[in-house]
Amino acid sequence: MKVYYHPFSREIFDDPYPVYRRLRDEAPVYRCEEVGMWVLSRFEDVWSALRDHDGFSSRHGPAIENPDEDGRKYSIISMDPPRHDHVRGILSRAFTPNRIAALEPQVREIVREVLDPLRPGTVVDAAVEIASPIPSDVIGLLLGVPREDRPVLREWWDTFLAREEGQVAVPRAAVEASRKISDYIRGLIEERRRAPGDDMISLICQSDHLTRDGDDLDLSDHDVLMFCNLMAAAGSETTAKLIGNALAALAEHPSERERIFSDRSLIAPAVDEALRYDTPSHYVARVATRDVEIHGVTIAKGSWVYFLLGAANRDEREFPEPDRFIADRRPPRNLFFGSGLHICLGQFLARLEARVLLEEFAERFPRYRVVEGSQKRVLTATVRGHAHLELEL
Ligand code: HEM
Repeated sequence: MKVYYHPFSREIFDDPYPVYRRLRDEAPVYRCEEVGMWVLSRFEDVWSALRDHDGFSSRHGPAIENPDEDGRKYSIISMDPPRHDHVRGILSRAFTPNRIAALEPQVREIVREVLDPLRPGTVVDAAVEIASPIPSDVIGLLLGVPREDRPVLREWWDTFLAREEGQVAVPRAAVEASRKISDYIRGLIEERRRAPGDDMISLICQSDHLTRDGDDLDLSDHDVLMFCNLMAAAGSETTAKLIGNALAALAEHPSERERIFSDRSLIAPAVDEALRYDTPSHYVARVATRDVEIHGVTIAKGSWVYFLLGAANRDEREFPEPDRFIADRRPPRNLFFGSGLHICLGQFLARLEARVLLEEFAERFPRYRVVEGSQKRVLTATVRGHAHLELEL
């Protein structure tokens, strides 16, 4: 039987790896007629295509079901150079390694607040009570959202990203949630323009005049709003899924878990291995700007192309024994945060959150286990991870 792939198939989402293997082996340039797009799945192909910024454009956004035009909806993730590079230059000031490292005590405080009420031996739904609140509270912290507003924002963000099985259209609830988020963040921006604080919105609003070649690049409130929305969407759901996927993968591999919990210096590389082993961001999308030939197949100019990071990260052409979890694998190349100009701006923050969480787990619940049959995967736009994951702590 011919290999079949659809980005919103529940069956494939639940266990995509056998399909990914077949795509890599049998159809490395796969055509999904139903959605009208091409799919690349081999590491080398995805790696090269992500670096071919002239041949593959980001300006139509990260999702075929909700296309963009040059960053209007999704900020920098859907911009091409030179605009992308200019705006990223401003935004990346808020993500310098020093600024992220300085957040560690506050991130640890958020993690501890979430874990403190939990007791060894009890059962907790880690997807709901651990993995979900931590990243959205961290984004809330970055944006300067008051604590009491963070739970309702988290709910809107979750609704915004949910998709319906087999449906390409964006659900009505997601559109409504997006409106509520925008109204809320617009309020924050107005406030910070009036009275700047120490948060990311204030920082971006204050450094929004980067000039190059005489271009005036002041960011409008709309630009700042789109970036905040992108950060919330790109940064909370993905990191939540990383935490859940990492906890599940370590429970499946108790000897690796024991190794990293007894030598904590291995926790950081194990976070990267969790990102590779069960990649939270399963694909990124581009549109071909010219006819591109790969493995003898021509992708016509104007076609949507999905790059399956989740498949590339399990490619045995790049990773020996790709289906094994090896905590200190430390591969020379990876694709879990993308690659090239659009490589994830929040990657060090995501790694920090996951590392701190695992350090605290090592201290408190070193022998936790997954309650059998409790894992339920979520179907979202681009993200693979758990809706439910019960752990006995
Ligand atoms: C495990 C967690 C995360 C994963 C797996 C992830 C994954 C990705 C990927 C694959 C891209 C590239 C998209 C493309 O090439 O089209 C990306 C871009 C981006 N990510 Fe992340 N991300 C994570 C966490 C975060 C966090 C915590 C933030 C911010 C707080 C963030 C902010 C961004 C931004 C702003 C971009 C766009 C960069 C650009 O277009 O230049 N991400 N992320």
